[in-house]
Amino acid sequence: MQRIGILLSGRGSNFIAIAEAIRQRRLPGAEIAVVLSNLPNAAGLEVARSLGLPALAIPSAGRKRAEHDAEMIAALHNHRVDMVCLAGYMRIISPEFVHAFPNRILNIHPSLLPAFPGLDVQAQALEYGAKVAGCTVHFVDEAVDHGAIILQRVVPVLDEDTPESLSARILVEEHIAYTEAIARVLSGEYHLLGRRYVLRNRP
Ligand code: GAR
Repeated sequence: MQRIGILLSGRGSNFIAIAEAIRQRRLPGAEIAVVLSNLPNAAGLEVARSLGLPALAIPSAGRKRAEHDAEMIAALHNHRVDMVCLAGYMRIISPEFVHAFPNRILNIHPSLLPAFPGLDVQAQALEYGAKVAGCTVHFVDEAVDHGAIILQRVVPVLDEDTPESLSARILVEEHIAYTEAIARVLSGEYHLLGRRYVLRNRP
């Protein structure tokens, strides 16, 4: 079994999509080992508990990043986690954290990177006048919203869109993308050529 550790700070809809994919056996060989949040009142923690999954708050407020991350890493090791999925974890992780799980930390971001890293990116895409938007699942490296891209899914931007309507359209794709990206990484059927994630055994 490949044991996944989920990190979240909010409602956890991406986490729920991953949990649902596991329940429906669309991610064979994977299980969620623990759900961690830096925010004790994150709704996603409650959902995890209701699903019978170990869920822990490790509050970050007022703590040094290195100290908080060390506690997060220890919790992930305690739960024998093989792969870490950031699912709306709204906190930058330290290089030490990245090195603790080399090429085993994934993140989902609601834009087509490298366009619009950072926060409120759906509103940024709209204001910029982009005609397509989407989401990116990537490996986490030491820079923010930067590691090698595993996959992206695209949606149109409509004239009548608001940040809310565009976010909702992207979120539907996020839920498909994250499960697909986890399956690809767990399969091991890829290599990284620099930043390029490429499938192995391509004819
Ligand atoms: C998602 O849209 C995710 O892409 C985004 O936060 C939301 C979390 O929603 N993540 C980032 O912006 C990270 N830079 P969720 O809690 O319902 O999964």
